[in-house]
Amino acid sequence: VLVSFRGGDVGRWRVERIATVTGAPLPPAARIAMIEGVAPDLETEEGAWTLRGAISEDRYVTARERTMLSTLQPPLGRSTATAAALIPITKSAEWWSLPQDARRAIFEERSHHIARSLAYLPRIARRLHHGRDLGEQFDFLTWFEFAPADASAFDELVGMLRATEEWRYVEREVEIRMLLAEFN
Ligand code: HEM
Repeated sequence: VLVSFRGGDVGRWRVERIATVTGAPLPPAARIAMIEGVAPDLETEEGAWTLRGAISEDRYVTARERTMLSTLQPPLGRSTATAAALIPITKSAEWWSLPQDARRAIFEERSHHIARSLAYLPRIARRLHHGRDLGEQFDFLTWFEFAPADASAFDELVGMLRATEEWRYVEREVEIRMLLAEFN
């Protein structure tokens, strides 16, 4: 499934802030629209931009982790989840040159990406989109939804992940924080 995130003047999500964490920034936008499926003619408005990613199979998750995740992970679109984050990320050529087992070891055995994140479920809903195979400027578009009251827990999780060995391979990262426009 292809998903497009369009920054511009329209969309359900009102941008609170866009922070450049590492590398090149993204142009400003007042709203973000998430469009599921093939979206024609997205860039009609001047200054608008679109990031695309595909939802695909997990690459690193073990059977045991998959079971835990499926028990704890909430769906997107909960009525209480009126805050969201879109964090586009690109990893380095060095990361992509590593064999699969070495990447898994960095991702989980040494950085504990899944183990640490589990504590934040079900407060945070997530979806991962892959852009690298589409030739996009970001390898990953990570999307999160939560209640505004859980925003500080989300900040804590992000801060923890950025201090891991995995993040040494992140060469571009932008964080977009939003609130559902209908409610704010
Ligand atoms: C909310 C709790 C979170 C959970 C449960 C979670 C879980 C996961 C899982 C299971 C994967 C592996 C998918 C696969 O096997 O292909 C993954 C990948 C990823 N996550 Fe998270 N995550 C969370 C939060 C975050 C946050 C806050 C960020 C960004 C700051 C993030 C960024 C990523 C990225 C970039 C990948 C792709 C890694 C790669 O394939 O190299 N995650 N996450």
